[in-house]
Amino acid sequence: MSPRRASQLALDLPVELPPFEIEPEWKAQQRLWGHSFHPMCSYLASFPAGLAHAFIARYSRPGDVVFDPFSGRGTTPLQAAAERRVGVGNDLNPFAHLLTSAKVEPPTLAEAQMRVAALRLGWAAESTTWEPLARDVAADPSAAGACVPRAGSGDRPGAAGHFEAIPAEVAIAFHHRTLAQLLFVRSTLQLDVCTDRFLAAAITGILHGKSASYLSEIMPNTFSMAPRYVCEFAARTGVRSPERDVFDCLERKLDRLFRQPIPPGRGLALLGDARDAGGRARDALRARGLPDRARLVVTSPPYLRVVKYGYYNWLRTWFLGFDARAIDEQLDDAHHREPYLAFMRDVLAGLRAVLAGDAVVVLVIGDVELDRGRRISSGVGLAGQVWEAAAAPEGFRLAGIATDEISADRKMTKLWGEEAGRATKTDRLLVLGATEAGRRRALGGTKSQVDWDWPPRRLRVV
Ligand SMILES: C[S@@+](CC[C@H](N)C(=O)[O-])C[C@H]1O[C@@H](n2cnc3c(N)ncnc32)[C@H](O)[C@@H]1O
Repeated sequence: MSPRRASQLALDLPVELPPFEIEPEWKAQQRLWGHSFHPMCSYLASFPAGLAHAFIARYSRPGDVVFDPFSGRGTTPLQAAAERRVGVGNDLNPFAHLLTSAKVEPPTLAEAQMRVAALRLGWAAESTTWEPLARDVAADPSAAGACVPRAGSGDRPGAAGHFEAIPAEVAIAFHHRTLAQLLFVRSTLQLDVCTDRFLAAAITGILHGKSASYLSEIMPNTFSMAPRYVCEFAARTGVRSPERDVFDCLERKLDRLFRQPIPPGRGLALLGDARDAGGRARDALRARGLPDRARLVVTSPPYLRVVKYGYYNWLRTWFLGFDARAIDEQLDDAHHREPYLAFMRDVLAGLRAVLAGDAVVVLVIGDVELDRGRRISSGVGLAGQVWEAAAAPEGFRLAGIATDEISADRKMTKLWGEEAGRATKTDRLLVLGATEAGRRRALGGTKSQVDWDWPPRRLRVV
């Protein structure tokens, strides 16, 4: 197929592309199929662990490198590491990087428990310093100048150090004693230390939700409601979150996360742009003495203008000390079609640096029918356009496109309701070979039988 410029595509789409004949067995699995670290924290537009497994089992063997340049919550690298592969993830969003890193470079349960015990002791010694601060903040959340120690600063109320204003909507979200504990933990945890990073990631997963497992009940678990809505809702209803003990809730979360042993495979999490992730992944693998070529990529690039990862996670990013607005300015999720296709071409060109000659590349691409309420045609058949305008010109070989209908009650449709209607209705799986050998390997694996027992009795396909 001859390469075409992105601007030509609108004229002659849709193009007929070969179907990739794979049974979508991942849809028949239970909701939480896969390693118990997967549900550490909800993440918008993540794909199910079973989807990653369907390809990991077919197109990689234990010891192989499996890569995801847009790793999000870390589904692909975690599932790869759980199946004894080297799971490598990259994301430009520091929150996604933290989740991926927590999952592929985890502490042991004993290390995590010991750290929680140390935090409890620290809290017992310092609670009288933190509680008055939190009580004052909660009593008048909108008071200008209410300052708290910065995340990771190690600073304490009343002492000299690094302080910052606490947003009113944060103070409103928690009972004041829960807030005091959170402020203490937030200032104490060091995100560059693996155990602390894991605990911080686990806390983001229990920060808000509608049951006694969560530290705030003011919002659902899946994403943060708009800050203004939270303030108005609290003012209108007088609602306050019940008191929750951060350490008790965290210990219960650890029990759930460690229901299964930590992944037996190695893993690596990189922070940066997907366009140069191939080279960075290769260098990082080499530096660790690991194989430096990936035999498989399973990834879902950001959708066209669909998700704002900073804005919809503002309470979690506050807890971690990340700037939600800066995240949204940086991420490539606001593109229209033409720049999106150019971006995808750059991503695929950059991937080459880490791809094995016979690598299989699976891109999960959602069709987007509505953009901020307006019906658009440019998002439909996007996978075909990515093939034509980005993958073919970069010398990839097309194995085919599979269609994965997303049931209406899943993912973002459920969250945003019909009002926004921005959710993905159909995912298309664009399956490529890095070379002709990769394309043949992709086609040859479609009929392989995959073991869906989890935890697995045997890890390789039959
Ligand atoms: C659809 S999500 C991936 C979800 C992932 N498959 C999972 O299961 O969690 C797309 C990801 O792309 C990331 N992203 C957006 N622009 C990026 C860029 N230029 N480089 C790397 N990652 C980027 C977003 O932060 C987001 O995590």
